[in-house]
Amino acid sequence: MHAGYQNEIYGRGLAGEVPPFTTDATRLEAAAAEVMAPGPFGYVAGGAGSGDTVRANRDAFAHWRLVPRVLTDATTRDLSTTVLGTRVPAPVLLAPVGVQSIVHPDGELATARAAAALDVPMVLSTASSHPLEQVAEAGGDGPRWFQLYWPNEPEVCASLLRRAARAGFTTLVVTLDTWTLAWRPRDLDRAYLPFIRATGVANAFTDPAFLAGLARSPEDDQGAAVQRWVRLFTGTDKRWDQLPFLREHWDGPIVLKGVQHVDDARRAAEAGVDGIVVSNHGGRQVDGAVASLDVLPEIATAVGDRMEVLFDSGVRTGADAVKALALGAKAVLVGRPYVYGLALAGEEGVRHAVRCLLADLDLTMALTGHRTLDDLSPDSLRRA
Ligand code: FNR
Repeated sequence: MHAGYQNEIYGRGLAGEVPPFTTDATRLEAAAAEVMAPGPFGYVAGGAGSGDTVRANRDAFAHWRLVPRVLTDATTRDLSTTVLGTRVPAPVLLAPVGVQSIVHPDGELATARAAAALDVPMVLSTASSHPLEQVAEAGGDGPRWFQLYWPNEPEVCASLLRRAARAGFTTLVVTLDTWTLAWRPRDLDRAYLPFIRATGVANAFTDPAFLAGLARSPEDDQGAAVQRWVRLFTGTDKRWDQLPFLREHWDGPIVLKGVQHVDDARRAAEAGVDGIVVSNHGGRQVDGAVASLDVLPEIATAVGDRMEVLFDSGVRTGADAVKALALGAKAVLVGRPYVYGLALAGEEGVRHAVRCLLADLDLTMALTGHRTLDDLSPDSLRRA
């Protein structure tokens, strides 16, 4: 059981060892700030505008309280489940985070190794700093999903999807809330944007359909290649009637990420997609937007029986995860915490950050008297 990490930590303590960094996920950002360069730190920690929605995402969890139950024989627990066809040891996935080499040179390769060691699915970003084939190889037999930023050119889109399928990515997560970048003062103040420095463009720069549109190779003319990348992925908002294109080019489950309105969730169900991620991109896109957790209950109620509803934005602790699951999420995605783990200690850091969350989640299930995920319901919670 995931809670075993607790005994492991105390056991190692007998030999004088302590964890590589804090086990308190709410202190990870501060710990990472001490080792990260200011540009990358601002890029990871920052949000849109004033940061109001980053804070709202966290505050929303405090508005719900767990109600512990007793004498439920929760000594042994099973948190395993199947999410969109992927068997998982716990309802936790690593959210797609691009440009991970800005926090650690191994970037997504380290994350893939750590995730695979735990059998936790990694959702690889289109904006990966390493080509998807290399990340797939690093992840070995581990479960892997691919996140799509939907490019302007159908040929490039189809090519990326073909490569992802060939490399063993099973589920497609289509991110709809970031077709152009938000106003992000923390990055703007430093004029810091990784992509224009040709970081996070590896999937495109290794793509035959992308390269076919260049007069000279990215090595020979990086500026022109970056400009082509920016044109492909900026200002790329799509319409509902374009979803069939993705179906035609992807055989596995398709998930829409960035849904916040119940009508959009219904529309997604009607469109026949397999799932949604209720997400506001960790507060990075719309300053002043509603907290992602605050819209989860109405969305889960409206469409939870028709497709799988996943959740992200603000999950830090085991209690956070349990709250989202109780409010109808089939699984949660976690973003910044594992990225801070990567910054602090590379592959081992990702593993530590994720194991902390899994152990905390497992113990929270135990001590609230829930043996399995099926035991969770809105009745497990009260409004604070
Ligand atoms: C992201 N996120 C993101 N999402 C996506 O679909 N594709 C991407 O490339 C990225 N890149 C990215 C970079 C960084 C630095 C962050 C912090 C986030 C959003 C991510 O998948 C997820 O929605 C949020 O991170 C969830 O919020 P928390 O857990 O970070 O609060």
